[in-house]
Amino acid sequence: VPKVIVSGRGGSGKSTLVTLLARLLGEKGEDALVVDVDESNLGLGKMLGIAPPAKTLMDYLGGKPAVREKLLASLRQGKGEGVQLFEGELTLGTLPRECVNWNGHLGFLRVGKIEHSMEGCACPMGAISRAFLKQLDVGERQWVLVDTEAGIEHFGRGVFEGADVVVVVVDPSHDAVLLAEKAKVLTEEAGKKCLVVLNKVDETTEPLLRQELRQRGIDVAGVVNFSIGVAQSNLLGKPLQADSLKGCIEQLLEKL
Ligand SMILES: Nc1ncnc2c1ncn2[C@@H]1O[C@H](COP(=O)(O)OP(=O)(O)OP(=O)(O)O)[C@@H](O)[C@H]1O
Ligand SMILES: [Mg+2]
Repeated sequence: VPKVIVSGRGGSGKSTLVTLLARLLGEKGEDALVVDVDESNLGLGKMLGIAPPAKTLMDYLGGKPAVREKLLASLRQGKGEGVQLFEGELTLGTLPRECVNWNGHLGFLRVGKIEHSMEGCACPMGAISRAFLKQLDVGERQWVLVDTEAGIEHFGRGVFEGADVVVVVVDPSHDAVLLAEKAKVLTEEAGKKCLVVLNKVDETTEPLLRQELRQRGIDVAGVVNFSIGVAQSNLLGKPLQADSLKGCIEQLLEKL
């Protein structure tokens, strides 16, 4: 059972795909924990239709200065960056209750958000994400879907160390193609499976995008069409309306 990281350039549709995959899994009676590691964006809960939990993992661990201190201590002791931040075992059933909101089979957890100007960089969030995903044990019929921040910073931070699969979302743009090429190299360098998925395509852009990727030796594992229902519900901050995309998401899930 995989822990899946969803990656891609800004606005490519990472949060949308995480939401639709999680929802489909929930409908099939499988537990899906959505982990929001994006330190900036705030709307994932609205897309899922689940309120943000009372605490982020950052709150739970005592706040950014406390976490930063722990990381520095670990570095000073020569333990490197792979610090263990959570006591005991972590499973979907034993997560700190104030950090996860469940709606049926769907769970929602947030690592931490930027709260104050001048608070410093987001490295502590990256370290928490990395430690959490590595330590989290998932059982049969349980999934972890990780929604990342735009770009490939999380590769550098090693957030995907504990994951099995990286899904790279590619929207119809040249930057997305270039980033997919890079993300594929980084994923395979780390010995993980990489699946490239097209998003927001139509009959004109899909073949062009496929061609651009094929020229770079990149296979396409899934295709999600542009959906006006998704665009509208997202604009209004409502749970995503994506009935027309169900077939696309089903097919993608089979690849996972
Ligand atoms: N298949 C789709 N059809 C129509 N609109 C879409 C689709 N996928 C995403 N969008 C729209 O594209 C925008 C970006 O989507 P989303 O927030 O999921 O991207 P993201 O990659 O998570 O962005 P960020 O990098 O800011 O986190 C949103 O307005 C969303 O509604
Ligand atoms: Mg997002």
